[in-house]
Amino acid sequence: MDAKLLKGKPVAEAVYTRVSKQIGFLKEQGVFPKLSVILVGEDPASQVYVRRKGKACEKLGILSETIVLPADSSEQALVTKIEALNSDPKNHGILVQLPLPGHIDEDKIIRTVSPQKDVDCFHPQNVGLLVSGNPYMLPCTPAGIVEMLRFYKIETESKHVVVVGRSNIVGKPMLNLLLQKNKSANATVTIVHSRTKEISAHIRRADIVIAAIGQPNFIKKEQLKKGSVVIDVGINRMDADNEKGYTLVGDVDFDQVYETVSYITPVPGGVGPMTIAMLMQNTVTAAAVQNKILLLEE
Ligand code: GUN
Repeated sequence: MDAKLLKGKPVAEAVYTRVSKQIGFLKEQGVFPKLSVILVGEDPASQVYVRRKGKACEKLGILSETIVLPADSSEQALVTKIEALNSDPKNHGILVQLPLPGHIDEDKIIRTVSPQKDVDCFHPQNVGLLVSGNPYMLPCTPAGIVEMLRFYKIETESKHVVVVGRSNIVGKPMLNLLLQKNKSANATVTIVHSRTKEISAHIRRADIVIAAIGQPNFIKKEQLKKGSVVIDVGINRMDADNEKGYTLVGDVDFDQVYETVSYITPVPGGVGPMTIAMLMQNTVTAAAVQNKILLLEE
């Protein structure tokens, strides 16, 4: 095995082992964790992600329901559906797949999901709890990255982490997670984004770079400190002369930076599997909390 490669699969498997035990424990007490996923429209990438979430539930023995609404559904129809799930005690997690069609107010929908069932950690109440250092849910992709760093024994404490990208899904919650006061965080964190001046100068000071900008091969060798750790969250489709007609590449120019870095996540096969693994963890956490059951961490 390539010692530099941080693969997601073994880490996701370790999470699944932990979550499986927790599911068994909940079931012994008559609680059957359930996740509902809502997809509005027919975006092909979203369809793939939603299908993967359903499959992960099936594999673990989490009940799941996928609700597909037509692209021209009204905002009210979506709100009504979410409210029904909020008040169903047999349903513990709700995920509305983003992006939503343009006529639907995404912020309003995020606020409609009950904070107790918000397995994405998108609701302002859950974001607030994370920022104030007392999180209920952990944001899936950032929590998956922390899991990977822990699994591969890459310390973050007192390290300088530069997060490239300020999205609500990855960049901002990543910052907040790495600022937590615990051994798997305690980092000094810088966020850089499209309006940052001299972005390369910041990245070059990083011990760990987390790239989440959605631009293929954006980060180059000259921007990295020798021996730095690179976590690439990007999944970009590039046209290619193959059967599929495209290939997936990250936000980091993998081939070019490979010699410079000490560790790097491949794309695909790096961070990718972690998001769904953490979603399963959040669903089980939500089911436990809603039934006032204390879960053991390991
Ligand atoms: N679209 C892309 N990533 C995500 C995610 O983590 N959660 C939801 N709900 N939608 C997404």
